[in-house]
Amino acid sequence: MLFHMPARLYFGSGEINNLKLIIDEYLKVKNPVLVTDKGIVESGLLTNILKLFPGIKIFDEIEPNPKSDTINKIAKEMRKLNPDLIIGFGGGSPLDAGKALALLGTNHGSIEDYEGKEKYKNDPLPFLAIPTTCGTGSEVTWVSVITDVNRKFKMSIKGPKMYPAVSIVDPDLIKTLPPKIIASTGLDALTHAVEAYLSKPATLITDNHAVKAVKLILGAIEGAYDDIENHHTERENLMYGSTIAGFAFGNSDVTAVHCISESIGALYDIPHGVANSIFLPHVLSYNLPECFIKMATLARHIGIDEKDDMSAAKAFIQKIKALSNRLGIPLFKDLKIGKDQFEIISKMSFENNSTPSNPRQLEQEDYHNILENAYES
Ligand SMILES: [Fe+2]
Repeated sequence: MLFHMPARLYFGSGEINNLKLIIDEYLKVKNPVLVTDKGIVESGLLTNILKLFPGIKIFDEIEPNPKSDTINKIAKEMRKLNPDLIIGFGGGSPLDAGKALALLGTNHGSIEDYEGKEKYKNDPLPFLAIPTTCGTGSEVTWVSVITDVNRKFKMSIKGPKMYPAVSIVDPDLIKTLPPKIIASTGLDALTHAVEAYLSKPATLITDNHAVKAVKLILGAIEGAYDDIENHHTERENLMYGSTIAGFAFGNSDVTAVHCISESIGALYDIPHGVANSIFLPHVLSYNLPECFIKMATLARHIGIDEKDDMSAAKAFIQKIKALSNRLGIPLFKDLKIGKDQFEIISKMSFENNSTPSNPRQLEQEDYHNILENAYES
């Protein structure tokens, strides 16, 4: 049983204040660049960093579901600066973009050239990840997900050298996160944990992280959604849950929920966390015959007290549906994706590399049925 997480992880309120010390004395680099998005720049979260690193080059054009065109354009400009560290600051998109740019800092060509596992020739630049949402897990995984705009396809670019060198997970950075983003990113983290636990490659170690993550996230997400500023413990538990959910799925896999959400994210630019929240209960219902016993175990860990396993597993699915509703997650119908699109979505989902990790075998037709069920509910 292999468990891998080589990033040096700083976790806790105020850890961001160690940034300069980490860069100067641990990483010992002189020319970092920062990758983020315009929302972060406007939020004022960078104020202290800019004081510590006056004149640092900021690439702030990262969009949700980061696009290959954007990455390639930034890479051209970035290479001229000869950076020795990439800092990714933000949600999943700036972190994934930062990993991709770290790779392109030492390797020629475009990001499309590196789709797949360990396609880089040279070790990427060191990457420092600072998440500002409670969902991505990217700060502790080796994968960067970038949308190939020509193929309308989410590529996975990964390898053992793509882990962040350092991650700073500071729960105070989500203190002003809007409720809508807490809901979608928190439910993305919950999806990571649940899928990791039920996936075929799950191990004892990933199971332990996944169960703990599910408990932490479910115990914290409503309080954080209602009033994150005044819920210190909930902030901390959400960030901790999100990070260890990353440990879990990074060492096992995700399943059919992410296969669908990556497809509709690439095709229609639907936010990743929203898509996961919509499809999680429907994929769990499909998976019931194969894994209701394990799902029941998870249900009992969060206090669901049904005697037989099938009832406990169904109660767990109902709890997730009710939670999505409480947190204002839209219905599939609300996304305005026509039924005529189900064929292409189910084809792309079936072809996703994580389909074989789903606990119950899936054909393209099964994905189609899951989409139909989600649409009608
Ligand atoms: Fe995700």
